[in-house]
Amino acid sequence: MLDLKKIRADFPILSREVNGKPLVYFDNAATSQTPQQVIDVIVDYYSNYNANIHRGVHTLSQEATDKYEAARHTIQKHFNAAHAHEIIYTSGTTHSINLVASGFSSLLQKGDEIIVSALEHHSNIVPWQMLCEKTGAILKVIPMNQDGELVMAEYDKLLNENTKLVFVNHISNALGTINPIEEIIEKAHQVGAAVLIDGAQACPHVKPDVQALDVDFYVASAHKICGPTGVGMLYGKEEWLNKLPPYQGGGEMIAEVSFTKTTYAGLPHKFEAGTPNICGGIAFGAALDYMNAIGFDAIAKYEQELLEYATKALLEIEGLKIYGTAKNKTSVVSFNLEGIHPYDVGTILDKLGIAVRTGHHCAQPIMDYFKIPGTVRASFAFYNTKEEIDTLVSGVKKAKMMLS
Ligand code: ALA
Repeated sequence: MLDLKKIRADFPILSREVNGKPLVYFDNAATSQTPQQVIDVIVDYYSNYNANIHRGVHTLSQEATDKYEAARHTIQKHFNAAHAHEIIYTSGTTHSINLVASGFSSLLQKGDEIIVSALEHHSNIVPWQMLCEKTGAILKVIPMNQDGELVMAEYDKLLNENTKLVFVNHISNALGTINPIEEIIEKAHQVGAAVLIDGAQACPHVKPDVQALDVDFYVASAHKICGPTGVGMLYGKEEWLNKLPPYQGGGEMIAEVSFTKTTYAGLPHKFEAGTPNICGGIAFGAALDYMNAIGFDAIAKYEQELLEYATKALLEIEGLKIYGTAKNKTSVVSFNLEGIHPYDVGTILDKLGIAVRTGHHCAQPIMDYFKIPGTVRASFAFYNTKEEIDTLVSGVKKAKMMLS
């Protein structure tokens, strides 16, 4: 059981008002809110030991370096990576995916095949299209069905000895579908393909074990997991990270530089050119500590209750259709009111203090599949309540009355 009162008190933003109404924050899939414990870590960094890392002998630099590397170990432990140097700090999921896609441009040849799913965010489509343009590789797509699930029988047909890479999200941002990544990874490995799992939407809800999954790359962003924006991670198996060339050149990623030849640093620094988001990395570790102290089993269980409660209540509204009815889904409800544009619903909800996302959610192929311009998306976190869902439901009813 979660102590909701205590948890909510950790998040200062949850007690503010929006348009004269108590904030109801249901845009957690876009970004989660930040607990005081993480805010304190950020303030402490800039108040007490703001310095560049790895470069200085001075005390502040050493303190910053120690905390930054300690956070890498926290991330390693959280994802159960075999080595801390398999965790690369990035600016977020998009950066992590682009790093891998760019690296594979030197490993792929014309005619190689790569597979994505119909449920992807644009950030897990566009970098692969760019990679295909560069290399002549062919992009194939696992289709989806009306429930918003992947058609796994079609996946089986797409796999062959030319398949080099498979990229799928763990959980769909637009619909909340939990994809069968264990099966996807196992089958890809049977044909010798590597797999990248986009965990941006999964990490707020589950604790992935990269070794148990036997996944080659797993990527995530801190800001969806109660951490700050502008920092994320790439997990890569050591053997794969050693095979990929550096993504960016610069300071910190080298062993030696001269005008005739430069050699690169080992992992993880090979992929970490330039001054990183030091405070962000440290706060990322603090955010994982915070989430783990609450416990992912309790979080997942409670969020499923919120999902069921919201689904039932929203479906009682005549003319409301939910998109994404997979058996396995997380606490995301994407919906439309018949004949009403999602943007208009979102605007009225905002007037009532309710924050939802409207639009195509950076997943236009999903919207094209359903032949809709977008949806209203309410995404719940462990700090939300059933009372807030009641407020959403009456807000949607009001919007329907005003817009019909
Ligand atoms: N990818 C984030 C979302 O789904 C921004 O809202």
